[in-house]
Amino acid sequence: MSQIVTTDGSHTLFSEQYGVTYHSRYGAVTETAHVYITTGLRYKAVMQREISVLEIGLGTGLIALMTWLEAEKRALVVDYTGVELFPPPLEVIKNLNYPQLLGVPDRAADFCKLHTTRWGRRQAFSEVFSFTKHKVPIESFSAPDSFDLIFFDAFAPQAQPELWTVEVFKNMYESLRPEGILVTYCAQGEFKRSLKKAGFVVERLQGPPGKREMTRASRC
Ligand SMILES: C[S@@+](CC[C@H](N)C(=O)[O-])C[C@H]1O[C@@H](n2cnc3c(N)ncnc32)[C@H](O)[C@@H]1O
Repeated sequence: MSQIVTTDGSHTLFSEQYGVTYHSRYGAVTETAHVYITTGLRYKAVMQREISVLEIGLGTGLIALMTWLEAEKRALVVDYTGVELFPPPLEVIKNLNYPQLLGVPDRAADFCKLHTTRWGRRQAFSEVFSFTKHKVPIESFSAPDSFDLIFFDAFAPQAQPELWTVEVFKNMYESLRPEGILVTYCAQGEFKRSLKKAGFVVERLQGPPGKREMTRASRC
């Protein structure tokens, strides 16, 4: 994988294997702020202060770091779980400019902790942010009635169609608690039909820069 600079100055990675970037080329931090923090976390935070989050495709840890910072800013208590089968090497992570770009250069060590902490063990990183990561395939991950919010951030359906199936979304649906939501950058028609088949109620929302739409789906 190689590092590239996106339009807002934040880094992302390019996967040679799948031929896609880890975030939008129009801004990794901007996309994450819009799709996952504003449309997911802040939306949920209106209703509850304690939020259990699942991230599908932990990757660089950008969404996890931004969620941690947001929990501190808004006095939320977040229990965060990430699923990732192919973690980027630590040398690659250390070269990403997220702590600097987010105005928290002093949190570089915390950012690294997301990557160096042991798999499968829950760690309380602070009073407001606990973290667990699982090195398992997305296709087989399920944890019934466990999460209020899912950040579905797999590589795009063209790159990894096996991760965008009705079966996977049934697992996601069952992993949510009642009234839980899933947010993602993807807004493709076939994907939204699969969400509906899995039982979700689907909303089409404005996307981040460079993308007309994104999706929020709810378990009712
Ligand atoms: C779009 S990237 C995630 C970006 C990440 N959310 C971030 O903020 O950096 C998709 C991630 O899914 C991971 N992945 C691909 N196939 C997987 C699988 N079958 N099971 C688990 N993780 C997988 C990739 O290694 C990659 O890190």
